[in-house]
Amino acid sequence: MDRRLALRSTLVTLAAVALAGSGHAQSNAPFKIGFILPMTGQSASTGKQIEAAIKLWQAQNGTTVAGRKVEVIVKDDGAVPDVTKRIAQEMVVNDKVDVLAGFGITPCAFATAPIATQSKTPMIVTAAATSAITERSPYIVRTSFTLPQATVPIADWAAKHGIRKVVTFVADYGPGVDAEKFFKSEFQLNGGQITGEIRTPLKSPDFAPFLQKVADLKPDAVFVFLPSGQGAAFMKQFGERGLDKSGIKLIATGDVTDDDQLNDMGDVALGVVNSHHYSAAHPSAMNKKFVADFQAMNKFRPNFMAVGGWDGMHLIYNAIAATKGAGGGDALLAAMKGQLFESPRGQILIDAQTRDIVQDVYIRKVERQNGQLWNVEFDVRKAVKDPGKAK
Ligand code: DHB
Repeated sequence: MDRRLALRSTLVTLAAVALAGSGHAQSNAPFKIGFILPMTGQSASTGKQIEAAIKLWQAQNGTTVAGRKVEVIVKDDGAVPDVTKRIAQEMVVNDKVDVLAGFGITPCAFATAPIATQSKTPMIVTAAATSAITERSPYIVRTSFTLPQATVPIADWAAKHGIRKVVTFVADYGPGVDAEKFFKSEFQLNGGQITGEIRTPLKSPDFAPFLQKVADLKPDAVFVFLPSGQGAAFMKQFGERGLDKSGIKLIATGDVTDDDQLNDMGDVALGVVNSHHYSAAHPSAMNKKFVADFQAMNKFRPNFMAVGGWDGMHLIYNAIAATKGAGGGDALLAAMKGQLFESPRGQILIDAQTRDIVQDVYIRKVERQNGQLWNVEFDVRKAVKDPGKAK
Protein backbone atom coordinates (compact mmCIF):
# COMPACT_ATOMS: atom_id res chain seq x y z
CA MET A 1 0.00 0.00 0.00
CA ASP A 2 1.48 3.41 -0.86
CA ARG A 3 1.64 6.02 1.87
CA ARG A 4 -1.28 8.10 0.57
CA LEU A 5 -3.57 5.10 0.50
CA ALA A 6 -2.37 3.97 3.92
CA LEU A 7 -3.07 7.42 5.38
CA ARG A 8 -6.52 7.44 3.83
CA SER A 9 -7.39 4.05 5.28
CA THR A 10 -6.15 5.20 8.72
CA LEU A 11 -8.37 8.28 8.51
CA VAL A 12 -11.35 6.17 7.50
CA THR A 13 -10.70 3.84 10.47
CA LEU A 14 -10.39 6.80 12.85
CA ALA A 15 -13.60 8.29 11.56
CA ALA A 16 -15.37 4.95 12.07
CA VAL A 17 -14.01 4.71 15.62
CA ALA A 18 -15.11 8.29 16.32
CA LEU A 19 -18.57 7.50 15.02
CA ALA A 20 -18.89 4.36 17.11
CA GLY A 21 -17.32 6.02 20.14
CA SER A 22 -19.71 8.93 20.17
CA GLY A 23 -22.47 6.32 20.10
CA HIS A 24 -25.92 7.74 20.57
CA ALA A 25 -25.02 11.26 19.43
CA GLN A 26 -24.75 9.96 15.87
CA SER A 27 -27.87 9.72 13.80
CA ASN A 28 -26.93 6.33 12.34
CA ALA A 29 -26.83 4.68 15.78
CA PRO A 30 -30.21 3.64 17.19
CA PHE A 31 -31.92 5.92 19.68
CA LYS A 32 -32.26 3.80 22.80
CA ILE A 33 -35.08 3.99 25.34
CA GLY A 34 -34.42 1.99 28.50
CA PHE A 35 -37.66 1.04 30.23
CA ILE A 36 -37.32 -0.28 33.78
CA LEU A 37 -40.57 -1.95 34.84
CA PRO A 38 -41.87 -4.42 37.40
CA MET A 39 -42.56 -7.49 35.22
CA THR A 40 -42.59 -9.79 38.28
CA GLY A 41 -43.79 -9.42 41.87
CA GLN A 42 -46.89 -7.72 43.23
CA SER A 43 -46.68 -4.78 40.77
CA ALA A 44 -46.30 -7.05 37.72
CA SER A 45 -49.59 -5.87 36.19
CA THR A 46 -48.00 -2.39 35.84
CA GLY A 47 -45.12 -3.80 33.81
CA LYS A 48 -47.43 -5.97 31.72
CA GLN A 49 -49.68 -3.00 30.91
CA ILE A 50 -46.86 -0.60 30.03
CA GLU A 51 -44.95 -3.13 27.93
CA ALA A 52 -48.14 -3.89 25.96
CA ALA A 53 -48.66 -0.16 25.36
CA ILE A 54 -45.08 0.29 24.11
CA LYS A 55 -45.56 -2.57 21.63
CA LEU A 56 -48.85 -1.12 20.37
CA TRP A 57 -47.30 2.34 20.05
CA GLN A 58 -44.40 1.03 17.96
CA ALA A 59 -46.68 -1.21 15.85
CA GLN A 60 -48.77 1.84 14.97
CA ASN A 61 -46.15 4.57 14.81
CA GLY A 62 -43.15 2.67 13.50
CA THR A 63 -39.62 2.28 14.86
CA THR A 64 -37.97 5.15 12.97
CA VAL A 65 -38.29 8.82 13.94
CA ALA A 66 -36.69 11.62 11.90
CA GLY A 67 -34.59 8.99 10.12
CA ARG A 68 -33.35 7.50 13.40
CA LYS A 69 -34.07 3.92 14.40
CA VAL A 70 -35.69 3.72 17.86
CA GLU A 71 -34.86 0.73 20.02
CA VAL A 72 -36.73 -0.03 23.25
CA ILE A 73 -35.05 -2.12 25.95
CA VAL A 74 -37.33 -3.43 28.73
CA LYS A 75 -35.78 -4.73 31.96
CA ASP A 76 -37.54 -6.14 35.02
CA ASP A 77 -36.71 -4.62 38.42
CA GLY A 78 -39.41 -6.54 40.34
CA ALA A 79 -40.24 -3.12 41.90
CA VAL A 80 -37.11 -3.38 44.10
CA PRO A 81 -35.43 0.08 44.26
CA ASP A 82 -31.83 -1.17 44.53
CA VAL A 83 -32.39 -3.30 41.44
CA THR A 84 -33.94 -0.36 39.55
CA LYS A 85 -30.90 1.75 40.36
CA ARG A 86 -28.42 -0.92 39.26
CA ILE A 87 -30.28 -1.49 35.98
CA ALA A 88 -30.42 2.27 35.35
CA GLN A 89 -26.65 2.50 35.86
CA GLU A 90 -26.03 -0.37 33.44
CA MET A 91 -28.38 1.12 30.88
CA VAL A 92 -26.64 4.50 31.00
CA VAL A 93 -23.05 3.23 31.10
CA ASN A 94 -23.17 0.03 29.01
CA ASP A 95 -26.21 0.37 26.74
CA LYS A 96 -25.76 4.16 26.42
CA VAL A 97 -29.50 4.73 26.47
CA ASP A 98 -30.71 8.16 25.38
CA VAL A 99 -33.72 8.10 27.73
CA LEU A 100 -34.68 6.16 30.86
CA ALA A 101 -38.39 5.39 31.36
CA GLY A 102 -40.92 3.39 33.37
CA PHE A 103 -40.72 3.21 37.22
CA GLY A 104 -43.65 1.22 38.54
CA ILE A 105 -43.57 2.45 42.12
CA THR A 106 -42.35 5.60 43.83
CA PRO A 107 -39.30 4.16 45.68
CA CYS A 108 -37.92 2.92 42.33
CA ALA A 109 -38.26 6.41 40.81
CA PHE A 110 -36.62 8.00 43.86
CA ALA A 111 -33.69 5.55 43.66
CA THR A 112 -33.00 6.40 40.01
CA ALA A 113 -33.33 10.20 40.15
CA PRO A 114 -29.61 10.83 41.03
CA ILE A 115 -28.51 8.76 38.03
CA ALA A 116 -30.67 10.86 35.69
CA THR A 117 -29.13 14.03 37.14
CA GLN A 118 -25.50 12.85 37.04
CA SER A 119 -25.73 11.49 33.50
CA LYS A 120 -28.07 14.26 32.21
CA THR A 121 -30.43 11.56 30.92
CA PRO A 122 -34.13 12.40 30.62
CA MET A 123 -36.09 10.09 32.93
CA ILE A 124 -39.73 9.65 31.93
CA VAL A 125 -41.90 8.49 34.83
CA THR A 126 -44.80 6.63 33.20
CA ALA A 127 -46.28 5.04 36.36
CA ALA A 128 -45.19 6.22 39.83
CA ALA A 129 -47.31 9.04 41.23
CA THR A 130 -46.00 10.61 44.44
CA SER A 131 -46.05 14.38 43.96
CA ALA A 132 -42.41 14.94 44.97
CA ILE A 133 -40.88 12.64 42.32
CA THR A 134 -40.41 15.37 39.72
CA GLU A 135 -38.55 17.49 42.28
CA ARG A 136 -35.86 14.83 42.75
CA SER A 137 -34.14 15.60 39.43
CA PRO A 138 -34.37 18.34 36.80
CA TYR A 139 -34.25 15.52 34.21
CA ILE A 140 -37.52 13.91 35.35
CA VAL A 141 -40.66 14.34 33.24
CA ARG A 142 -43.92 12.59 34.18
CA THR A 143 -46.66 11.16 31.94
CA SER A 144 -48.63 9.29 34.63
CA PHE A 145 -50.36 11.43 37.28
CA THR A 146 -49.96 12.56 40.87
CA LEU A 147 -51.96 11.39 43.87
CA PRO A 148 -52.86 14.94 44.98
CA GLN A 149 -54.17 15.54 41.43
CA ALA A 150 -56.35 12.41 41.53
CA THR A 151 -57.47 12.84 45.15
CA VAL A 152 -58.60 16.47 45.54
CA PRO A 153 -61.56 16.04 43.10
CA ILE A 154 -63.05 13.05 44.99
CA ALA A 155 -62.63 14.85 48.35
CA ASP A 156 -64.44 17.85 46.94
CA TRP A 157 -67.16 15.65 45.40
CA ALA A 158 -67.70 13.73 48.67
CA ALA A 159 -68.06 16.89 50.75
CA LYS A 160 -70.65 18.23 48.31
CA HIS A 161 -72.68 14.99 48.21
CA GLY A 162 -73.78 14.52 51.78
CA ILE A 163 -70.72 12.69 53.10
CA ARG A 164 -69.72 14.21 56.46
CA LYS A 165 -67.50 11.66 58.25
CA VAL A 166 -64.72 9.81 56.46
CA VAL A 167 -62.06 7.29 57.46
CA THR A 168 -59.03 7.38 55.16
CA PHE A 169 -57.46 4.04 54.19
CA VAL A 170 -54.17 4.19 52.28
CA ALA A 171 -51.06 2.16 51.48
CA ASP A 172 -48.30 3.28 53.83
CA TYR A 173 -45.78 4.91 51.48
CA GLY A 174 -45.36 8.01 49.29
CA PRO A 175 -48.53 8.01 47.17
CA GLY A 176 -50.71 6.84 50.09
CA VAL A 177 -49.35 9.59 52.33
CA ASP A 178 -50.06 12.12 49.55
CA ALA A 179 -53.62 10.77 49.11
CA GLU A 180 -54.31 10.88 52.86
CA LYS A 181 -52.95 14.41 53.25
CA PHE A 182 -54.73 15.91 50.25
CA PHE A 183 -58.01 14.13 50.90
CA LYS A 184 -57.98 15.40 54.46
CA SER A 185 -57.20 19.04 53.69
CA GLU A 186 -59.71 19.34 50.83
CA PHE A 187 -62.46 17.49 52.70
CA GLN A 188 -62.02 19.52 55.89
CA LEU A 189 -61.91 22.75 53.91
CA ASN A 190 -65.37 21.83 52.60
CA GLY A 191 -66.79 21.09 56.05
CA GLY A 192 -66.06 17.36 56.29
CA GLN A 193 -64.60 15.50 59.23
CA ILE A 194 -61.89 12.81 59.26
CA THR A 195 -62.75 10.27 61.96
CA GLY A 196 -59.91 7.81 61.38
CA GLU A 197 -56.68 7.43 59.40
CA ILE A 198 -55.59 3.92 58.51
CA ARG A 199 -52.38 2.93 56.74
CA THR A 200 -51.77 -0.57 55.36
CA PRO A 201 -48.36 -2.08 54.60
CA LEU A 202 -47.26 -1.90 50.95
CA LYS A 203 -46.04 -5.50 50.85
CA SER A 204 -48.62 -8.34 50.85
CA PRO A 205 -51.21 -6.58 52.98
CA ASP A 206 -53.96 -8.47 54.82
CA PHE A 207 -56.76 -5.93 54.84
CA ALA A 208 -59.03 -7.81 57.29
CA PRO A 209 -57.92 -6.18 60.58
CA PHE A 210 -57.98 -2.72 58.99
CA LEU A 211 -61.45 -3.30 57.54
CA GLN A 212 -62.65 -4.36 60.99
CA LYS A 213 -61.46 -1.00 62.27
CA VAL A 214 -63.46 0.78 59.55
CA ALA A 215 -66.56 -1.23 60.52
CA ASP A 216 -66.08 -0.24 64.18
CA LEU A 217 -65.60 3.47 63.36
CA LYS A 218 -68.84 3.56 61.29
CA PRO A 219 -68.03 6.59 59.10
CA ASP A 220 -70.33 7.77 56.28
CA ALA A 221 -67.62 6.68 53.86
CA VAL A 222 -64.16 5.15 53.68
CA PHE A 223 -61.76 6.80 51.22
CA VAL A 224 -59.24 4.33 49.77
CA PHE A 225 -55.95 4.58 47.88
CA LEU A 226 -54.07 1.36 47.14
CA PRO A 227 -51.54 0.91 44.34
CA SER A 228 -52.48 -0.79 41.08
CA GLY A 229 -52.69 -4.55 41.62
CA GLN A 230 -54.18 -4.47 45.14
CA GLY A 231 -57.73 -3.38 44.28
CA ALA A 232 -59.20 -6.84 43.64
CA ALA A 233 -57.95 -8.29 46.95
CA PHE A 234 -59.28 -5.25 48.79
CA MET A 235 -62.71 -5.48 47.16
CA LYS A 236 -62.96 -9.19 47.91
CA GLN A 237 -62.27 -8.65 51.63
CA PHE A 238 -64.55 -5.59 51.72
CA GLY A 239 -67.36 -7.80 50.42
CA GLU A 240 -66.49 -10.80 52.59
CA ARG A 241 -66.77 -8.67 55.73
CA GLY A 242 -70.16 -7.39 54.58
CA LEU A 243 -68.95 -3.80 54.43
CA ASP A 244 -70.67 -3.27 51.09
CA LYS A 245 -73.98 -3.80 52.89
CA SER A 246 -73.10 -1.89 56.07
CA GLY A 247 -74.14 1.55 54.87
CA ILE A 248 -70.50 2.70 54.80
CA LYS A 249 -69.87 4.09 51.30
CA LEU A 250 -66.69 3.22 49.48
CA ILE A 251 -64.98 6.11 47.65
CA ALA A 252 -61.51 5.89 46.16
CA THR A 253 -58.96 6.98 43.64
CA GLY A 254 -59.23 5.04 40.38
CA ASP A 255 -56.17 2.97 41.34
CA VAL A 256 -58.56 0.80 43.39
CA THR A 257 -61.11 0.28 40.58
CA ASP A 258 -58.23 -0.37 38.18
CA ASP A 259 -59.36 -1.40 34.67
CA ASP A 260 -56.82 -4.23 34.78
CA GLN A 261 -58.86 -6.02 37.48
CA LEU A 262 -62.22 -4.26 37.58
CA ASN A 263 -64.10 -6.77 35.46
CA ASP A 264 -63.25 -9.57 37.91
CA MET A 265 -64.28 -7.65 41.03
CA GLY A 266 -67.96 -8.47 40.79
CA ASP A 267 -70.99 -6.76 42.32
CA VAL A 268 -69.09 -5.43 45.35
CA ALA A 269 -67.50 -2.80 43.08
CA LEU A 270 -70.82 -1.59 41.62
CA GLY A 271 -71.63 2.01 42.50
CA VAL A 272 -68.16 2.88 43.84
CA VAL A 273 -67.54 6.56 43.09
CA ASN A 274 -63.89 7.36 42.41
CA SER A 275 -61.72 9.92 40.67
CA HIS A 276 -58.91 9.42 38.18
CA HIS A 277 -57.34 10.63 34.96
CA TYR A 278 -58.12 7.58 32.82
CA SER A 279 -60.98 5.18 32.26
CA ALA A 280 -61.08 2.55 29.50
CA ALA A 281 -64.67 3.76 29.10
CA HIS A 282 -63.59 7.36 28.28
CA PRO A 283 -65.93 8.16 25.38
CA SER A 284 -63.56 9.91 22.95
CA ALA A 285 -62.95 8.61 19.41
CA MET A 286 -59.23 8.34 20.13
CA ASN A 287 -59.83 6.23 23.25
CA LYS A 288 -62.33 3.94 21.58
CA LYS A 289 -59.75 3.14 18.91
CA PHE A 290 -56.98 2.80 21.54
CA VAL A 291 -58.98 0.33 23.64
CA ALA A 292 -60.12 -1.71 20.62
CA ASP A 293 -56.58 -1.93 19.17
CA PHE A 294 -55.04 -2.68 22.57
CA GLN A 295 -57.51 -5.45 23.31
CA ALA A 296 -57.11 -6.95 19.83
CA MET A 297 -53.33 -7.07 20.30
CA ASN A 298 -53.10 -8.12 23.96
CA LYS A 299 -56.39 -9.80 24.90
CA PHE A 300 -56.80 -7.65 28.01
CA ARG A 301 -58.16 -4.19 28.75
CA PRO A 302 -55.74 -1.23 29.02
CA ASN A 303 -55.61 0.55 32.36
CA PHE A 304 -54.14 3.91 33.44
CA MET A 305 -50.63 2.44 33.50
CA ALA A 306 -50.90 1.49 29.82
CA VAL A 307 -51.93 5.05 28.97
CA GLY A 308 -49.00 6.48 30.96
CA GLY A 309 -46.66 4.27 28.91
CA TRP A 310 -48.37 5.10 25.62
CA ASP A 311 -48.10 8.83 26.25
CA GLY A 312 -44.50 8.39 27.43
CA MET A 313 -43.68 6.92 24.01
CA HIS A 314 -45.58 9.75 22.31
CA LEU A 315 -43.61 12.33 24.31
CA ILE A 316 -40.26 10.69 23.51
CA TYR A 317 -41.09 10.34 19.79
CA ASN A 318 -42.08 14.03 19.65
CA ALA A 319 -38.82 14.99 21.36
CA ILE A 320 -36.70 12.89 18.96
CA ALA A 321 -38.49 14.55 16.03
CA ALA A 322 -37.98 18.03 17.56
CA THR A 323 -34.21 17.41 17.73
CA LYS A 324 -34.34 16.11 14.12
CA GLY A 325 -33.08 12.77 15.33
CA ALA A 326 -29.98 14.23 17.03
CA GLY A 327 -31.18 13.64 20.61
CA GLY A 328 -28.97 14.77 23.50
CA GLY A 329 -30.20 14.93 27.10
CA ASP A 330 -30.67 18.69 27.41
CA ALA A 331 -32.15 19.11 23.92
CA LEU A 332 -34.64 16.28 24.48
CA LEU A 333 -35.61 17.70 27.86
CA ALA A 334 -36.17 21.16 26.37
CA ALA A 335 -38.33 19.61 23.64
CA MET A 336 -40.45 17.77 26.21
CA LYS A 337 -41.24 20.84 28.31
CA GLY A 338 -44.53 22.43 27.32
CA GLN A 339 -45.66 19.60 25.04
CA LEU A 340 -49.40 19.48 24.53
CA PHE A 341 -51.19 16.64 22.79
CA GLU A 342 -54.30 14.51 22.79
CA SER A 343 -54.08 11.25 24.72
CA PRO A 344 -56.66 8.46 25.05
CA ARG A 345 -57.45 10.09 28.45
CA GLY A 346 -58.06 13.58 26.97
CA GLN A 347 -55.69 16.50 26.36
CA ILE A 348 -52.44 16.49 28.31
CA LEU A 349 -49.75 19.12 28.86
CA ILE A 350 -46.25 18.83 30.28
CA ASP A 351 -45.93 21.87 32.53
CA ALA A 352 -42.68 23.55 31.43
CA GLN A 353 -41.86 24.71 34.98
CA THR A 354 -42.52 21.53 36.96
CA ARG A 355 -42.13 18.92 34.17
CA ASP A 356 -45.24 17.34 35.64
CA ILE A 357 -48.42 16.47 33.77
CA VAL A 358 -51.49 18.72 33.63
CA GLN A 359 -54.65 16.81 32.77
CA ASP A 360 -58.39 16.44 33.28
CA VAL A 361 -59.50 14.39 36.29
CA TYR A 362 -62.84 12.62 36.04
CA ILE A 363 -65.36 11.59 38.67
CA ARG A 364 -66.58 8.11 37.77
CA LYS A 365 -68.97 5.48 39.04
CA VAL A 366 -68.53 1.75 38.56
CA GLU A 367 -71.40 0.46 36.43
CA ARG A 368 -72.23 -2.70 34.54
CA GLN A 369 -72.71 -2.07 30.83
CA ASN A 370 -73.11 -4.83 28.26
CA GLY A 371 -72.16 -7.42 30.87
CA GLN A 372 -68.87 -5.76 31.86
CA LEU A 373 -67.82 -3.44 34.69
CA TRP A 374 -66.57 0.03 33.73
CA ASN A 375 -65.58 3.28 35.42
CA VAL A 376 -68.24 5.49 33.83
CA GLU A 377 -67.27 9.17 33.85
CA PHE A 378 -70.00 11.59 34.97
CA ASP A 379 -68.13 14.76 35.95
CA VAL A 380 -64.77 16.36 35.20
CA ARG A 381 -62.23 18.82 36.63
CA LYS A 382 -60.46 20.35 33.65
CA ALA A 383 -56.68 20.83 33.31
CA VAL A 384 -55.73 19.94 36.90
CA LYS A 385 -52.15 20.86 37.86
CA ASP A 386 -50.50 18.85 40.63
CA PRO A 387 -51.81 20.47 43.84
CA GLY A 388 -48.69 19.09 45.56
CA LYS A 389 -46.46 21.61 43.78
CA ALA A 390 -48.11 24.71 45.19
CA LYS A 391 -47.39 23.70 48.79
C1 DHB B 1 -47.85 4.25 42.65
C2 DHB B 1 -48.03 2.94 42.22
C3 DHB B 1 -49.26 2.55 41.76
O1 DHB B 1 -49.46 1.28 41.33
C4 DHB B 1 -50.33 3.44 41.72
O2 DHB B 1 -51.51 3.00 41.27
C5 DHB B 1 -50.15 4.75 42.15
C6 DHB B 1 -48.90 5.14 42.61
C7 DHB B 1 -46.53 4.68 43.16
O3 DHB B 1 -45.81 3.86 43.76
O4 DHB B 1 -46.17 5.85 43.00
